[in-house]
Amino acid sequence: MAGQKKVLVLNGPNLNMLGMREPAIYGSGTLADIEAACARHGEALGLAVTCRQSNHEGELVTWIQEARGSQAGIVLNAGAYTHTSIAIPDALTAAEVPFIELHLSNVFAREEFRHHSWLSPLAKGIICGFGAKGYSLALDAMAEILD
Ligand code: DQA
Repeated sequence: MAGQKKVLVLNGPNLNMLGMREPAIYGSGTLADIEAACARHGEALGLAVTCRQSNHEGELVTWIQEARGSQAGIVLNAGAYTHTSIAIPDALTAAEVPFIELHLSNVFAREEFRHHSWLSPLAKGIICGFGAKGYSLALDAMAEILD
């Protein structure tokens, strides 16, 4: 763990319901499956991964603030807050921690209200449409960013 770069994998509202929630869109794996895969893949990449999930915008804001100076990078699936929150992008700006925006589904192939993200202009990059595999892709990209 010592010397490893720390990466926070942050999941927002309703992602605790993965496995039960609209499996045709989000897949049948659970959040616990994703978090275990993130820990394994992070370890292989030499990253110390911490996973957190909240349904509350303010809690996500607090965790992003706390990442300032303590985490090297953030992988963020903000769920529906992607499309509605100003507080989350404000926190990301204040935190000054590079982040990757992630969505399990291809939001551009879905309803129009999902096409706009308040996070995208601030993100290092965006991964969407690859399901749970997207988290491994995001960690690969983050490892390169932090190298
Ligand atoms: C999501 C896409 C969002 O539009 C939606 O509100 C979610 C999940 C995704 O991972 O595909 O909750 O972020």
